[in-house]
Amino acid sequence: MRVIVCENYEQLSKEGAKLFASQMILKPNSVLGLATGSTPVGLYKHLIEMNKAGEIDFSDITSFNLDEYYPLSPENDQSYRYFMNENLFNFVNIDKARTFVPNGLSENPEEEGKNYDELIEKAGGVDIQLLGIGQNGHIGFNEPDVNLITGTHLTDLTENTIQANSRFFNSIDEVPTKAITMGMASIMKAKKIVLLASGANKKAVVSELLNDHITTNVPATLLKLHPDVVLICDKEAYGA
Ligand code: F6R
Repeated sequence: MRVIVCENYEQLSKEGAKLFASQMILKPNSVLGLATGSTPVGLYKHLIEMNKAGEIDFSDITSFNLDEYYPLSPENDQSYRYFMNENLFNFVNIDKARTFVPNGLSENPEEEGKNYDELIEKAGGVDIQLLGIGQNGHIGFNEPDVNLITGTHLTDLTENTIQANSRFFNSIDEVPTKAITMGMASIMKAKKIVLLASGANKKAVVSELLNDHITTNVPATLLKLHPDVVLICDKEAYGA
């Protein structure tokens, strides 16, 4: 795992955006794996600016998002589909028909998961996957557990995640308790992975990435098995 320590969130966002932009320039029909949450917002802002400036082109890009709350309609303003439209897709020249987010209203989440993984494979696999990290070490919504699941699946969110995500809702009771998430193997199959971590509240979990241990109690540590991961963190998350 390569580690880039940035001065602050703004620099982290720029560094992350540079990697995505380079990928898109080298391969204009890239398949991007995308994430929601607060961390990638700055990176998306830079991609929007670069697209407006004519430096990067989304017209041949396909994207797959990591996860979606369940059950939740894509029109709901708390959905991750809505988030992606508002933070990236509405402002760049991407074909929305080629932007995929798990269907939070699927009546058969098991089949939804299987189809989602098949779609990714048919698209040629993810070229570059963006990840944030939960304070509990989750990636996507692969929560700490003895067993982790390989493919895209329906999962229960832990109390810790519900608590952390309640900041986006009026009250904690409104936070969905389940989500459909890409599984650990779905994520690990990406050719390149860019993991972002910002802020002092990520310091403890980032320290778990910097040692040489792997544990399903901190799912992100499994990324140490991937041959091409870049961790971009700010000084606060790195503990410098
Ligand atoms: C989002 C996702 C989550 C977040 C993580 C960190 O699609 O899958 O794993 O990346 O919860 O969230 P923030 O960036 O809000 O700290």
